Formats: sequence, C-alpha cells, structure tokens
Amino acid sequence: MFLNAMYRANVIIFYITEALFLITSWHSDRIRAKTRLRASKEWIDLAEKTADLGIWSWDIARDRFQITEFGRSLYGFASATPINYQGFLMTLHPDDRQPTQLAIQQVLTEKNDYRHEYRVIRQDGSVRWIVTLYRGNFDDAGKPLQLLAASVDVTARKQMEQELKVQQQMLIHITRVTTMGELSGALAHELNQPLAAILCNAQAGQRFLAKTPPDWKELRAIMNDITEADRRASQVVSRLRVLFKKDEVVQQGLHINTLTEEVTKLLHSDLIAKQVSLTLHLADNLQCTIGDPVQLTQVLINLVMNATEAMTSSASGLRQLRICTSLSDTATLEVAVHDTGSGIAPQALEQIFDPFITSKPHSLGMGLTISRIIINAHGGRLWAINNPDRGATLRFTLPITQETSS
Ligand SMILES: Nc1ncnc2c1ncn2[C@@H]1O[C@H](COP(=O)(O)OP(=O)(O)OP(=O)(O)O)[C@@H](O)[C@H]1O
Ligand SMILES: [Mg+2]
Repeated sequence: MFLNAMYRANVIIFYITEALFLITSWHSDRIRAKTRLRASKEWIDLAEKTADLGIWSWDIARDRFQITEFGRSLYGFASATPINYQGFLMTLHPDDRQPTQLAIQQVLTEKNDYRHEYRVIRQDGSVRWIVTLYRGNFDDAGKPLQLLAASVDVTARKQMEQELKVQQQMLIHITRVTTMGELSGALAHELNQPLAAILCNAQAGQRFLAKTPPDWKELRAIMNDITEADRRASQVVSRLRVLFKKDEVVQQGLHINTLTEEVTKLLHSDLIAKQVSLTLHLADNLQCTIGDPVQLTQVLINLVMNATEAMTSSASGLRQLRICTSLSDTATLEVAVHDTGSGIAPQALEQIFDPFITSKPHSLGMGLTISRIIINAHGGRLWAINNPDRGATLRFTLPITQETSS
C-alpha cells in the first residue's frame, strides 16, 4: 500500500511538473494556460486526496513554499502562513534537519529523484514520520529553479516496525534464556569444577597450617590456586550473567574468534558429557565485525548445541565438532560449524530455518529461526549444507569492518 502511495507520488510529481510548465508559459498564451492550469490543479487535488499525499514545492530563488492544504496539515503549518526553507527545516526533528538538507542538496546537484524519511514535530509536540519524494526542476542551463515534493505520513508503519522490533528482541531473549535453561546441568558442572578446587585447596591449606612450623611455601601456592579457581568461577558466572540479561542491542566492534573461544569455554562441560571432541581452526587474519556480542554468542551456542545433538546417535569416537573461522572475501568473514552427525534431509535444508520445525521431542524448533534473524540483522547470511562424507555444516557470514574492537 505504501509503495502504491509512492508510485502515485511519482505520477503526481509528473503533474506538478506539468503545471509548473504551464505557469512558465503563462505569458505566451494566458487564457489557454489558465484553463489547463486549473485542470492540472484539479488533477493534483484529486490524486492528493486519493493517495493521502501532501504536495509542495520550493521556489529556490524567492525562498517561498507552495503547499497544498493537505500538505499543511501533514507538517502542522497553519493555513495561509507563508513558509520558507528555514521554516520548513524548523518543523523537522533536530536530528533529521541536517540529513534532510543533504538530501535536498543531492537532488538539486545530481538531478535525480530522491526518497527520504524524516520526523516532523507538530505544534502539540506529537511526532509524525514522513516520507517525501523529491524532484528538482531546472532551467535550460541546468540551474535548479524549484524543488517539487510529495510527502506521505508513514507513522503507523513506523510504529508497527518498532513494535515488531521490540517483540523480536523479546523473542530472542526468551529463546536465549530457554537455551541456557537446557544447558543448566552442564553449566552447573562448569561452575562446580572451580568450586571443588577451592574446597580441596582450602582443606589442604588447613592441613599445612596445622603443621609446626606451617609450610609457608605450600600455603602460598595453595592461595594462588584458590585465587585462580575463584577467577575461573567468576568468569563462568559473568559469561552467564551477560547471556541472561535483557539489555538493549549493543553494536560494537568485536572479534569472532574471541566469541567462538568464549562459547567453547561455556559449553566445555556439555561437550565432555556428550563425548564430543572439538577442534578449532581460527583464522588469524580476521578483522573485526560490528555486532551485538550477546546475540552472536547466542547464534554460536545454537549451532554448537544443534551439532552436538545431531551427533548423539553417532558412535562416541565419531562425534567430531569442528569450528572454523575464515575470510570469505575482503569484506566478509565466515564461520562454519561442522559435525559428524545424522546430516539433514536434502528437502529440509531450508525448512529447518522455519519456526517450530524440530525433530526433537522437547524442543521448540526456534533455534535456527532466531539465529537467522540475528545474522540477517547483522548483514550476513546463515545456511546449511550436508558434508560429503558425514554430518552437516552450518555456515554464516558477517561483514567485516576496519574498526578495532572495544
Ligand atoms: N547440525 C545439524 N544436523 C542435523 N540436523 C540439524 C542440525 N541443526 C539443525 N538440525 C535440524 O533442524 C531442526 C531445527 O533446529 P532448531 O535449532 O531450529 O530447533 P531445535 O534444535 O529442534 O530446537 P531449539 O528451539 O531448542 O533450538 C532440528 O530439530 C534438527 O532436526
Ligand atoms: Mg536448536
């Protein structure tokens, strides 16, 4: 419907151009021009009403705006008040003024139509999203005379997009928490290891303290071990806290190799429990990517968990998980999670990304759907292939950036 409106905007701009042509030929044939001008204005009026378009033009030399009544209501301009360029800019959200100026400048220098979105702040403080299609009108020498524009209010669409985004974030968070719940046994074990080491060391310390004289050298070594185990335990807790938190999406420079290593540390106990051997092939020439570390961690966890689950039916010596990172081209990095599991039926290679597709009795079938949403939102691609020998490989790409990670 919106595209339809923009198509009509194009048609209407054509009519405005026509009408302006008639105005300029005013002197040569005043009466005929008058009649045709009236007809053109009626056309514009009719089209404007059907498409909910506000139509306006800016006479550059005189710095005067011509705007239809409906256009005035879109921008919140009072009836009959003269409008100039500065007055127009002042109705826009402060953050959108400079981009709008640049967009208009571009239309007038490059002589191309241009579609631009911005926010308008009405007198009552309410904010409306407007999309405008601009076209320049030039003299024979190419000098810009006028800017023609058709604006449409897209606030409802913007609000829907925003609500969808919020719901998507909630879904991403809920599925992440669910995944962490599934891993709770392995994670408790991961935490238990340093805690058991601390207990063991503390008991040994008590024994060395009871000696006369106490064995200070041993005690010092024990203290170091306790500190180290405590650090490991708090690393596990902080990794988990980050994944459970429901924060705003953060975009930052990050290294995919570091994220991959973090994920394998987190899933270490789960892999051991499932008798999966892990090999990492991390390319050392990888640049940063921009993204949300928590969401990308979520993708890696999903892929690794799927791979290990697909290998449960393989003989324990055959459960091999290989995670490779590489440079796919100068602007893209690639992560591949290879397994030696059951593989994927050829007709299901694409279906597995649909929601609620699962072969597991107690699963939701949302892991890959969410992972694809996340990767797409990062400007990458996620897909599955079967390995020539055994199992499947899930691959994703991400754009790389020159920025350094924080
Ligand atoms: N590496 C893999 N090898 C074989 N089949 C796989 C692999 N990864 C995914 N699948 C198939 O795709 C289905 C969908 O995966 P997805 O991660 O979306 O959901 P799930 O793992 O079943 O449930 P959850 O919502 O807990 O992730 C799986 O049930 C499985 O049948
Ligand atoms: Mg899954």
